[in-house]
Order: sequence, then C-alpha cells, then structure tokens
Amino acid sequence: MIIPSRLEIANLPTPLQKVKYDNKSFFIKRDDFTGLEFSGNKIRKLEYLLYDAKKKGAKYVITCGGEQSNHARATVAAAASIGLKSKVLLWGNDRKTADGNLFLNKVFGAEIRYINKKEFLNVDELLMEEKETLLGKGINSYLIPEGGSSSLGIWGYIKFLEELMPQVKTKIDGILTASGSGGTSAGLLIAAKLFKINIKVFAVNVLYEKNKLKNRILSLAENCIREFNLKLTINENDLEIIEGYSEEGYKNITKEKISVINEVAQQTGILLDPTYTGKAFFAYNEQFLNNSKSNIIFVHTGGLFGVFAKRKNYLDALNG
Ligand SMILES: Cc1ncc(COP(=O)(O)O)c(C=O)c1O
Repeated sequence: MIIPSRLEIANLPTPLQKVKYDNKSFFIKRDDFTGLEFSGNKIRKLEYLLYDAKKKGAKYVITCGGEQSNHARATVAAAASIGLKSKVLLWGNDRKTADGNLFLNKVFGAEIRYINKKEFLNVDELLMEEKETLLGKGINSYLIPEGGSSSLGIWGYIKFLEELMPQVKTKIDGILTASGSGGTSAGLLIAAKLFKINIKVFAVNVLYEKNKLKNRILSLAENCIREFNLKLTINENDLEIIEGYSEEGYKNITKEKISVINEVAQQTGILLDPTYTGKAFFAYNEQFLNNSKSNIIFVHTGGLFGVFAKRKNYLDALNG
C-alpha cells in the first residue's frame, strides 16, 4: 500500500460534538472547524493535492466549481497560504456586489473565468485549455478537478475516519454527509474497509442524481484502490444515497429547509449552509433522528460563507 504525503494546513483534529436538537441527541463531527479561510471538508483533500502541486513545481493551481463554490474558495485561500497563484472557472456570473465565496475568491486574489451551465458540463476540457495557455507562457500549473475529488484528494476522508474513531465512545452504525462531487463519501467507503470498521456511508445527493452520484463515488473509490495498491474490495451495499432532498436544485433551497436551519441555529448555536449541510441535516433529521436512529454521525462539512449569498432566504424564513 502506498500512503501519500500531505501538507499540514488544516486545523485537525476537528471536534466531535454531542448536540441536542428538538430533544434528540446526536453527534456532529465539526469539519466546519478545519480553519477559517479553509473551513469545511475541502481542505482535507487539498492537504494532499497541494503537497503534490508543490512537489511538481507548480506555480498556479487551476480548479472549478459553482459561483459559490466552497471548494474553489478553499483552494484559492490554501494556495495563497503556500505562495501559489490560482485560476478558477466558476459556473455563474460576475456580480458588482460579490458575496460569500465569490467575494472571498476576489479577496484572495484568484483569477476568475465565468462559464455557463452548458460549458460546465465540459469543464475538464476547459481546465486543460487553461493549463495549456499557462504552459504557453512558460508557467507550470496543477489541475484540481471538481470538488478536489480525485484518487489523491479522497485520502483526506480516509484520514478523517482514522481521526474520528478514537473520538467515538459508543458503537456507531454509520456516517452521513452531503455529497456533491462524491469524494468525501468515496474516501469514507475506502476508510471503513481499510480500518475494518463496520459502518455504512450515507450520502445526501445535492448535485447529481442518485445513480450518477453512486457511480461517481464507486469509481472514485475503485480508482484510488488501484492507484494506491490497496488490498481491499468495496461493497456497494455499504453506500446508501439518500435522495429527494435537493429537488429545488443545487443553487436553491426551500423555505421549509431554511426554517429548520434557523431552528438548529437557535437551539444549538450551530450554523448550517444552504447548499450542502442544511439539506443533509434536513434529511438526517427526517430519516434518522425522527426514527431515533441517532447512532449515525452527522458530518458538518462547512460551506458557511454560502449563507451570506442567501441572506434574503434566511430572513424571509425568520419572518414567516
Ligand atoms: C460544504 C460542503 N459540503 C459537502 C460537500 C460535498 O463534498 P464532495 O464534493 O466531496 O461530495 C461540499 C463540496 O462540494 C461542500 O462544499
């Protein structure tokens, strides 16, 4: 087995916190505490990816995401912290009053190219084009795919389980996270097998439909197993996609969900974001907490700067 090296730029370990909401007790792994500028799950993947970028002598990192991409913001901030420049391809439009992650991308000095939804479908080609343009100018760059989800990036969530297990004091049956590009769930699936921990991975799909996400997660895991020569086999029954919690679309959120986010904030002091963790928590509450299946750990994967881009929705829900 080959274990890749990483930078140590995230605040780890993150706490495992016991929380009470609506008289239901459960545990949240606070990956929103990985750092202020880097906050969320992406920095765990970036520790591996940016180590590799540095090792390969890159001067730039190039990545992509939605206009409010947490991954893009974390990449840009982390790149700045180690002296690399960044270029990001964002699905969306420039805004005079850029908010949330888009605003931060500007503050951290990213070069931004805006693309539309159709172009985003071929984003890997556009990323390659950017790399070649830089190469034409004699600049060596490092490509990071959507969400940092590659065979190397997902080591962040293999390491996550190694970190979590000593924090857990009672038997757990599973871990639930929001799932976008699928890397977080893929890392957890591998980790469970690698460390021989009998748990199920629950992925709440917020971006891709169920089968597409399932295939993405399984192929990410399989590629990683192959590339790093891991002696294990993934069982697809260890993965469950919880669907139906983002029918309003990736960039939208229903008032009902925002109301739960506001209630959680008021009862626990924990803030959830409108794209990932708010939807995942809504699913977790409905499917697990309401059935007293609370031995499943909820991962708070961050995303908090996205709250500011949706402040009107939060206020509207508060005003009834
Ligand atoms: C806050 C947050 N939670 C969860 C996810 C999903 O992680 P993954 O892309 O690894 O599925 C992302 C990224 O897309 C995110 O920004």
